[in-house]
Amino acid sequence: MFIPMKIAGLGMALGDKVIDNDWFVKELGLDTSDEWITERTGIKKRYFLSDPDKALSYIGAKSARQALEMAGVKPEDVDLVICATFTPDYQMPATACLIKEEIGAKNAGAYDMQIACSGFVYALINAASMVASGMFKNVLIVAGDVISRFLDFEDRGTCILFGDGAGAALITQAENGEGIFAVEVGADGSAPEKLLIPAGGSARPASEETVKNKEHYLRMNGREIFRFSVNVVPQTMKLLLEKSGLSKEEVDLWILHQANIRIIEAAAKRMGVPMSKMYNTIAEYGNISAGTIPITMYEAYKNNVLKRGSILGLIGFGGGLSWGGLILRF
Ligand code: ACO
Repeated sequence: MFIPMKIAGLGMALGDKVIDNDWFVKELGLDTSDEWITERTGIKKRYFLSDPDKALSYIGAKSARQALEMAGVKPEDVDLVICATFTPDYQMPATACLIKEEIGAKNAGAYDMQIACSGFVYALINAASMVASGMFKNVLIVAGDVISRFLDFEDRGTCILFGDGAGAALITQAENGEGIFAVEVGADGSAPEKLLIPAGGSARPASEETVKNKEHYLRMNGREIFRFSVNVVPQTMKLLLEKSGLSKEEVDLWILHQANIRIIEAAAKRMGVPMSKMYNTIAEYGNISAGTIPITMYEAYKNNVLKRGSILGLIGFGGGLSWGGLILRF
């Protein structure tokens, strides 16, 4: 299998307010510390979107404009906008519709997809098949989350982990051998309570009771999710290498979902891949769910670590539980 496609443009945008680890102690009075957060997660700071009148579509559009500029593609030439998120502006309409309007992609279709932290990888699989088949020329992915709006700031086990931001990627037809060598996806819906926003959907519509019980906030069993992640990530890396026929030495760079530096270190150790091949942004930005992979790709490209022709592995994992990965030539 080889799916020809090119990631022609990348972009990123973050929330406007820098939140360092001390903020949780000084501003919220939480029983935590910079030392605990750094040691257990690798996170030093994150960004929140502080203006209550702005939402995901605002930072999503910012990141999208950058990706179009890098690709040299005009907004009116975008065929489709896919927004991967679990924190859309509204339950309806799709945030992708708001983003396309905001950037002037007047000829584009638009839809959202919701598979939490695996969202960018799944969206890339969608976009790649669309351009490879000739169905579309320019597919714009915007993957991001404004998680601060869904955090229980009394729960020190979750609120310290997440930040707000979005990454964008413009997917076009291949020009110089760019494309995907292998894809691996999976999902396990047997225990949704491990990572869940209980209320606000059709299972538990908003009511006085759900608000009182803080059921509109993200709930996570950190220990279980950690255990799941340290197993599924190396397993997915291994399967991708087998499927692609590439050796681990032939992969120049891995970008994993930025959930916890210990998960990334454990995967690197298990796979015998040096940490120098794992590009990370978790210390600076925290966990931005669907946004972490394209944001980290943008940073790696900007810093000349990810180059044209690089062989790149991407792995997303999280809510669902879900996971997805691919190896591509950039
Ligand atoms: N500060 C100080 N102590 C804390 C904090 C905190 N912020 N949070 C938890 N603790 C305490 C706990 O209360 C517990 O205390 P106890 O032993 O007295 O009960 C102790 O620290 C250890 O708690 P654990 O939950 O076992 O800590 P752990 O080392 O597992 O770290 C963490 C917690 C960072 C959440 C980790 O489990 C983790 O990263 N899990 C994975 C998260 C993840 O990958 N999410 C990705 C998906 S996100 C998505 O899809 C949207």
